[in-house]
Amino acid sequence: MRSIEAHNFRLHTEARLRAKTDPNARDMYFSKNVGLRRDWYTDTVFGQQQFTGTNPTIITLASSRWRDEFMSVSQAQGRTDVTKLLTESSGNIYVQDYSDYRPSVGLSPEDEIVCQGRYGCSTVALFHLEPEGQLHPLAIVPDYKGSMGESVAILNRRIASDVKGNKYEDWPWRYAKMCVQVSDWLRHEVAIHLVNTHLVEEVIIVAAYRCLGPNHIIFRLLEPHWSTTLSLNKSARETLVPKIIVRMIGLNATQAFAFVKAAYERFDWKGLYVPNDLRSRGFPVESLNEPKYHNYAYARNISQMWNIIRKFVARVLESEYVGGDREVLSDVSIVDFCDEVRARNGGELTSFPEIKTLDELIDCVTMCIHIAAPQHTAVNYLQQYYQTFVPNKPSALHTPLPKSLLDLRSFTEEDVLAALPLKQPRDWLLMAQVPYLLSFEVPEDSTILHYAETTSSSRSTLDIIRTAAGALKADLETFIHTVEQHSDDLDDQETPYLVLDPSKTAISILM
Ligand SMILES: [Fe+2]
Repeated sequence: MRSIEAHNFRLHTEARLRAKTDPNARDMYFSKNVGLRRDWYTDTVFGQQQFTGTNPTIITLASSRWRDEFMSVSQAQGRTDVTKLLTESSGNIYVQDYSDYRPSVGLSPEDEIVCQGRYGCSTVALFHLEPEGQLHPLAIVPDYKGSMGESVAILNRRIASDVKGNKYEDWPWRYAKMCVQVSDWLRHEVAIHLVNTHLVEEVIIVAAYRCLGPNHIIFRLLEPHWSTTLSLNKSARETLVPKIIVRMIGLNATQAFAFVKAAYERFDWKGLYVPNDLRSRGFPVESLNEPKYHNYAYARNISQMWNIIRKFVARVLESEYVGGDREVLSDVSIVDFCDEVRARNGGELTSFPEIKTLDELIDCVTMCIHIAAPQHTAVNYLQQYYQTFVPNKPSALHTPLPKSLLDLRSFTEEDVLAALPLKQPRDWLLMAQVPYLLSFEVPEDSTILHYAETTSSSRSTLDIIRTAAGALKADLETFIHTVEQHSDDLDDQETPYLVLDPSKTAISILM
């Protein structure tokens, strides 16, 4: 592992040197990646990735079911410290839950998740959100098979983040954390990124083209957020998913498409409005400035960004629909648009609301912009940093999962290395290259701030949009400092979290 780290460091140093003599010679190792951190493998960096990594969107307050299941593990393994923590701090136990993978793709609990030598896993990981705000991993089930009795579960030797002994050589625990990352690779790339942003936004775009005229206010408001998305999604459907992604993961094509379908069917339109989503996952928006949540910069940023976008949308729509709810109700284009998004022979997005009030319309349009701009940016543009260094987040394992705790506890560095594609250079290359290509820097003229600037001064823009864009521009300029402040508030000052800076946030899903 040390030699992989050294190689990564060498590639980065060489890329920097090359770029000094030829600025056009920048390659994928020019920018820093997580592997350059001496502590990349630690619980601290692993925990923080659930808050500010490529997928900061699913960490959730643990249900009593998961607390009970892990309690049975801690009792069976004689870990009274874990049992006590689960009992006394139950309101601060969080989970990353990937336990649904087998049922989602039609596998039975006893089936291996494997395709052509690549193993997937269905992890469940438990965390303690400590009073000072560190998200500390407590326990991991590398591959959940329907019950704890049928699964292997490993507990962290360190009950809290300030306990010494975060050892480089703790290979069984490091392997378990790698399994979480493999599970999250699939959830993140296929569900959170591809389905929940790219594909859902496509449904909105197509329905709008079918049902709203080009001069309809909703069309005028949303169209700038659709740049490149349809052609990009066509490539994703025809090439990226079937020819590349499917050959990087532990699922075959049929299973992968079932996974996509399950994610789409589960998409909960109103449940994923930022304030609703954060509350349901145990992060109420009104509490996000409390010290306990200061490391969850994604939540702190995205909730404020939601408010900024909503304010902009409200200004426009309140000026357009001066008759309020009654006028919204009588707009047949909106009825058609909502029907089209939900229709069985249309978008099939069954959770999409029937819009009856101006407030509902404002929320719905805010969501369309949220998905296309800040949400996609948050889950897209950190892939280079966290994933070009393959050991941090591989897309699959290359050896079978351990069959027992004894088996896992005997894992050495060799076992961890064997699970990585060191002897499968094609896999290694794709795991590093695909995230790099997908995080291509946002052009300056394609940011949300640039949109606000140009729209607020454009003579061809509708008056009500131009006026609202002026206020949006001012809000976004102030928000740049908020994003910096939230990053400065993090315990981790080695990796800033600036991805949601509006001068870098893409206006649309363009990569
Ligand atoms: Fe993307």
